[in-house]
Amino acid sequence: MRKLAVAMAKGGVGKTTTAVNLAHGLAMTGKRVLLVDCDIQGQVAKFLGAKPEYGLYEFITRKDKGGKTISKNSTLHRCRPNLWILAGGIGLVELKNWLGEQPRNTRQTILGNQLIPQKATLDYLIFDCAPGWDVLSVNILMAANEVLCPVALQGPSMDGLKTFFRYLQSAQKLNTDLRLNYVLPTLFDRRTRQSHQILQQVKQYFARQICDPIHYNVRLSEAPSYGQTIFEYEARSSGAMDYQKLIRRVIGNGSQQKQDT
Ligand SMILES: Nc1ncnc2c1ncn2[C@@H]1O[C@H](COP(=O)(O)OP(=O)(O)O)[C@@H](O)[C@H]1O
Ligand SMILES: [Mg+2]
Repeated sequence: MRKLAVAMAKGGVGKTTTAVNLAHGLAMTGKRVLLVDCDIQGQVAKFLGAKPEYGLYEFITRKDKGGKTISKNSTLHRCRPNLWILAGGIGLVELKNWLGEQPRNTRQTILGNQLIPQKATLDYLIFDCAPGWDVLSVNILMAANEVLCPVALQGPSMDGLKTFFRYLQSAQKLNTDLRLNYVLPTLFDRRTRQSHQILQQVKQYFARQICDPIHYNVRLSEAPSYGQTIFEYEARSSGAMDYQKLIRRVIGNGSQQKQDT
């Protein structure tokens, strides 16, 4: 099972768009995928047009909001063939409090440990991270072994990337398996000089990890309002083609990793 965190210190850079479309694209190729929404905004379910009853809070604590014990499997919501989600949302505030109350030496690895039994039935675990740095972000970076970092090719992106890099380095001290494997330029507008400038800078720093950019595509911003992924909403759009490329690269790296081991 590959464990991939879509993470970046800044918001609005395309994390959720990437996590949802990557997860659905992988599921469409027959991979079994669990997408975990780790943001209190709870956008993943909305992007997929789903209304799950339970989510990550119940998965970890095994209790519903009223305190009734529930099974772990009932918290996984099937959204599409081969695609399940663990929903985020406001319940994550309580989850963070709950994590904070757990013993110091175990609290950072609770999420990863709880997800281990899913290994037998899943090919991919994808985490859609929140922008900040807290007990839940640390849990994700302890549970994952690959990081995909979207970088918006507009605004002060390099600052966000530097902050994120510091987070990542401190997480790597605790989880030595964690690798930054993909840096994904997003919101690429080839008409603006800024897009090209940031792209060049990112290429210099991350020659190995850099992926082909995701262009700014209005279809990508429309699809969530219909609860559809880009492959459902407009499969012939540039956004769909850009994400297909990313999916091929992620799958290709997986077979490469297998050959290397
Ligand atoms: N390549 C893109 N082209 C156009 N709009 C995009 C693109 N990627 C994301 N968006 C839009 O930008 C906004 C922020 O994206 P989102 O994925 O929610 O970012 P994050 O999860 O990092 O906060 C959303 O409204 C989304 O629909
Ligand atoms: Mg998001």
